[in-house]
Amino acid sequence: MPIIDLNAALELNKISQGAVYINDYPVIRTGKRSDFMIGTFINQDQEVEFRIWEPEIFKPVVDNGPGIYDAEVVGNSFNDKVYLTVRSIAPSLSRNIKKSDFLSSIPRIILDANWQRVRERLSRIGVSDGCWALIDDVINDPSLDGRFQTEGAAIRHHDNLIGGLLHHTTKMLRILAALLENNPELLPSADLLCFATVVHDIGKVFEYDNLEVASYWYSSHRVRGIEYLTGFADRIISQYNEDFYRQVQAVIAGHHGEYGDRPTTVAAAIIHYVDTLESQTTRLIQELQASEDGRLYDRDWGFLQGLPLGEK
Ligand SMILES: [Fe+2]
Ligand SMILES: [Fe+2]
Repeated sequence: MPIIDLNAALELNKISQGAVYINDYPVIRTGKRSDFMIGTFINQDQEVEFRIWEPEIFKPVVDNGPGIYDAEVVGNSFNDKVYLTVRSIAPSLSRNIKKSDFLSSIPRIILDANWQRVRERLSRIGVSDGCWALIDDVINDPSLDGRFQTEGAAIRHHDNLIGGLLHHTTKMLRILAALLENNPELLPSADLLCFATVVHDIGKVFEYDNLEVASYWYSSHRVRGIEYLTGFADRIISQYNEDFYRQVQAVIAGHHGEYGDRPTTVAAAIIHYVDTLESQTTRLIQELQASEDGRLYDRDWGFLQGLPLGEK
């Protein structure tokens, strides 16, 4: 079965059959006649809403969760909003279609080059070689199976791509480099801020699994990141001191600002701002690229007029 071209399938009343990919648990709502399901199909940069109106039809999705399915869909629209109505859906029988066929990825060569460049820049600013040695061991530990370099930074929001976590982290390090240049008072804490930035989201390796929610997602990447670092506690305390280690814990716990445990340290507050600036800028650009009328809707501020964008 071919993979359905989601945008082409949206054409009104068009019937398409093929493989689709669901990366997140759809929601079930109560309708006038019966419960119905709303979810999202993903294919590369396409993200299209689907609806399933009958419980017998959506039962296989409830039973099997996110994954690859074979489906028959019809292009539909309501109040100018387009979506796909699913007529039938069942776990895919095609063995040659893999999850990664549906996911966009950032080329590894670009990720590695960007990482190397920001690393050299931060070293020139004052991050120590010992700090990089520690970072290398923490992000390349065999237990992570290389996933710090391949996992996404999110499932639905910014950098929801293979490699997105490393990409997001690298972009934050670039902002951190600018902050260290702007505020030399921070230089004695360059190692702490750099290390904490690198590990602030490392628990996403446990919260997600190749851009799907992992089994124990509910304990959050903040808790899982702190837990993961306990394996390096002795090393970090002997290389630095206990204050450094506890400060890193505070950054991981507090980096979501008002959307999680409130920051309890200046480092957590700074990294929260860096995280927000990076992820929100990326989100705005992604939404603008996907927008049809050159503007986007922001939950807090309403419609935002766009601006000219170039290629990546
Ligand atoms: Fe986070
Ligand atoms: Fe983050």
